[in-house]
Amino acid sequence: MNRTLYKQFDEGYFGEFGGRYAPEVLTEALEELERVYAKLKDNRKFKKQVDYYFKNYVNRPSLLMYAENLTRHWGGARVWLKREDLNHTGAHKINNTIGQALMARYMGKKRIIAETGAGQHGLATATVGAMFGFETVVYMGDVDLKRQELNAVKMKMMGATVRGVSAGEATLKEATSEAMRDWALNVKTTHYIVGSAIGPHPFPTIVRDFQSIIGKESRKQFKKSEGKLPDAVVACVGGGSNAIGMFYGFIGDKKVKLYGVEAGGRDKTPGNHSATISLGKPGFLHGTKTLIIQDENGQIVPAHSVSAGLDYPGVGPEHAHLASTGRVSYANVDDDDALSSFLEVCKIEGIIPALETAHAFSFAKKLAKDLGKKKDILICLSGRGDKDAAEVYRLLGDI
Ligand SMILES: Cc1ncc(COP(=O)(O)O)c(C=O)c1O
Repeated sequence: MNRTLYKQFDEGYFGEFGGRYAPEVLTEALEELERVYAKLKDNRKFKKQVDYYFKNYVNRPSLLMYAENLTRHWGGARVWLKREDLNHTGAHKINNTIGQALMARYMGKKRIIAETGAGQHGLATATVGAMFGFETVVYMGDVDLKRQELNAVKMKMMGATVRGVSAGEATLKEATSEAMRDWALNVKTTHYIVGSAIGPHPFPTIVRDFQSIIGKESRKQFKKSEGKLPDAVVACVGGGSNAIGMFYGFIGDKKVKLYGVEAGGRDKTPGNHSATISLGKPGFLHGTKTLIIQDENGQIVPAHSVSAGLDYPGVGPEHAHLASTGRVSYANVDDDDALSSFLEVCKIEGIIPALETAHAFSFAKKLAKDLGKKKDILICLSGRGDKDAAEVYRLLGDI
């Protein structure tokens, strides 16, 4: 396999993107994290621990499923689903959270904090907080607290403190800023479990590595079942953690086409979408250089998506790099198409997908037709849609 295609050029950089642009007060903590991760990532005992919890808590390996009904209904390529929705807590977020919680324990931290949009990362953090006995605080924008109330209630049940954030658009960007502020004030006792492949180095690398289990498992499972690799792999992109985890299993397989799907929102005007890669420009956000939705003065423009997990005005720096090299193609799907795909998957396949994943389904439907019958598409089903059921009902009424 040719893995040279993929190269992290410099520590913390993916081509021109990435790096560490964080306040001085965090330098020591980020350097400690870098040191600890360098030590742990190839350490047999640590890897065994992560594997243990993946198997015995998360329920890995997650299922690779042939979606018979979607294949028939869409009438094109064969459709396969990597079922991260079947993980404990219902999404891919738990993979990264287990890994970082074990790192926090190793570093002797007593307190963990997190930001969350859709609530799945907050929920995963509250879960490991309860299991490993950390004091846990989760920051969540007030708007997201309303649309994802169920996840906030679950976090509280597990003993986490949920802090609402009212600043700005009161969504993921503001929750992330608030978590960074908390970390800067409490860095000695606290580890900040960043929830996506974003933030200052080494976070994008750490999150990618813990999520790469999705792609590695998929590759193995697909090969075992079909004796070949899929022709195309599709995943939704918010900050980009499920997508980078999935892509990483196939990045060296040049024949496998990789597609990331962002939120096209209401339309393409600034403020109405979260299509950072298609419509953003290079800039700096939350400690990293990446593509950002900004106006002509470089001011960050609020992002919008019907799905709380996709409305981030930036994207993981590695995705910005993969877009610039052309290894991954990025598309976007608007709110209405995502909502109709959400319902289609519920009705045709008997699976309620997360609204985030519904964006990937909508894109994959067109791709399946374009590719035709003899090809195989693998979709990362990043999470289940229980959290979105009330919001979809509110938006669409009687369905
Ligand atoms: C189920 C699900 N899928 C996807 C995402 C998007 O995040 P990422 O791009 O980091 O995978 C989220 C974020 O909350 C999520 O909950």
